[in-house]
Amino acid sequence: MGFISIQEAIKKGKEKVAIRGWIYRERGSNKLKFLVLRDASNIVQCVIKKEEVSEKIWNDANKALVESSVEIEGDIYQDKRAPTGYEINVKKLNVVNFAENFPINKDQSIEFLADNRHLWLRSRKMTAILKIRSTVFGAIHEYFRGEGFYEYQSPTFQAVQCEGGSTLFHVDYFGNKDVFLAQTWQLYAEPAIFSLEKIYTIAPSFRAEKSKTSRHLTEYWHAEMEVAWANFEDIISYGEGLIKYIVKKVLEKNKAELELLERDVKKLEPTIKKRFTRITYDEVLKLLKDKFKMSIPWGKDLRTIEEDKLSSLFDVPVAVTRYPKKVKAFYMKEPTDSNPKKPVVNGVDFIAPEGYGEIIGGSERESDINKIIERLKEEGEDVKQYQFYLDTRKYGSVPHGGYGLGVERVIAWICGLDNIKEAIPFPRTVLRYKP
Ligand code: 4AD
Ligand code: MG
Repeated sequence: MGFISIQEAIKKGKEKVAIRGWIYRERGSNKLKFLVLRDASNIVQCVIKKEEVSEKIWNDANKALVESSVEIEGDIYQDKRAPTGYEINVKKLNVVNFAENFPINKDQSIEFLADNRHLWLRSRKMTAILKIRSTVFGAIHEYFRGEGFYEYQSPTFQAVQCEGGSTLFHVDYFGNKDVFLAQTWQLYAEPAIFSLEKIYTIAPSFRAEKSKTSRHLTEYWHAEMEVAWANFEDIISYGEGLIKYIVKKVLEKNKAELELLERDVKKLEPTIKKRFTRITYDEVLKLLKDKFKMSIPWGKDLRTIEEDKLSSLFDVPVAVTRYPKKVKAFYMKEPTDSNPKKPVVNGVDFIAPEGYGEIIGGSERESDINKIIERLKEEGEDVKQYQFYLDTRKYGSVPHGGYGLGVERVIAWICGLDNIKEAIPFPRTVLRYKP
């Protein structure tokens, strides 16, 4: 008999079926043995009756511990008392591998689960998150390809910084060169818009982030895009479009997983239905003062606490624009109406609802080569190293821009997770690089 998934077996409802998977729970008496079986699709309760099976099957069923891998043949039928409403009366059982005592059982510490991440991936919670993660990655590809973007790749070993020297990972390159792990694809993406015009990627980015927060990883997946002939408004629209598309796809495909995670999906629906709030940095300062009596001096970057307060006022992501020039990266464009006394840039941060922080950072790119050089010098950079980048402004420069979306931050928000570490299979943070 051909194996089908547990979900397919449940769908059939009343038939002879063959399934395979892992023992999720087990209990029994001297006449009956209950095995709850799990596969990628679902769980189902299986019952083994001593008087109906061979002695070998009965003995194997009693010997098999949790997480043993098994193949089962039997009759499925509805049983309201079973965890997923169905039960299988087992006729044949083949234990493929008798598991040793599984180290993870109830009530284990977060540290213990992190040390045993390779085993914890099998939990129903992680399985649900990983399925949603897969939907999110698929949705990003679909969105950009649907909008006519080419997928393009930048190097991971890079010669220069882009998002500030303090979060660079240095790699000892053959003992005599200091190269860096990519913080972003951006400086190697901008040159490619002159051939492909609209490009995107999903790739790991690395940040030597020393802060221990619930939203920082040292290695995260970064969905980035860059577009030629685009103005600032275009970039913001693509950001709103992508987030809406991702959330829509997860709500379509992952109802069961969101339910298992006890996620209140009503909190996600406004993101699909409503236009995102657009607000300037100056307006944010005013709002924070009016609503929370927080006074932030003009020119200071928004911290986590301020972003969280801001997000509490809206049920959709908020696109904050026109940040003070000095808190943003060297490549961001200063708009023509920027006040020389309080210069701003066309940079945008999308702040997620419910305190999940910045999920997109993007900008229109500075077209004035001299302004870029000036900013690099201010930051103490060796301008010669950036020659390849500066060339983008010399030969047919066009208005352009792009953004980067932190995939795990989006997953953490959609799933309603307490910590970004739950959103990636093997999280890397300042304290953890194992297993
Ligand atoms: O705002 P960031 O630093 O922007 C850039 O890297 C631009 N070069 C992107 C571009 O224009 N192509 O990072 C983009 C996003 C952030 O909004 C955040 O969601 C995520 O990357 N991010 C992190 N996610 C997890 N852990 C970290 N340490 C992160 N740092 C940034
Ligand atoms: Mg940012």
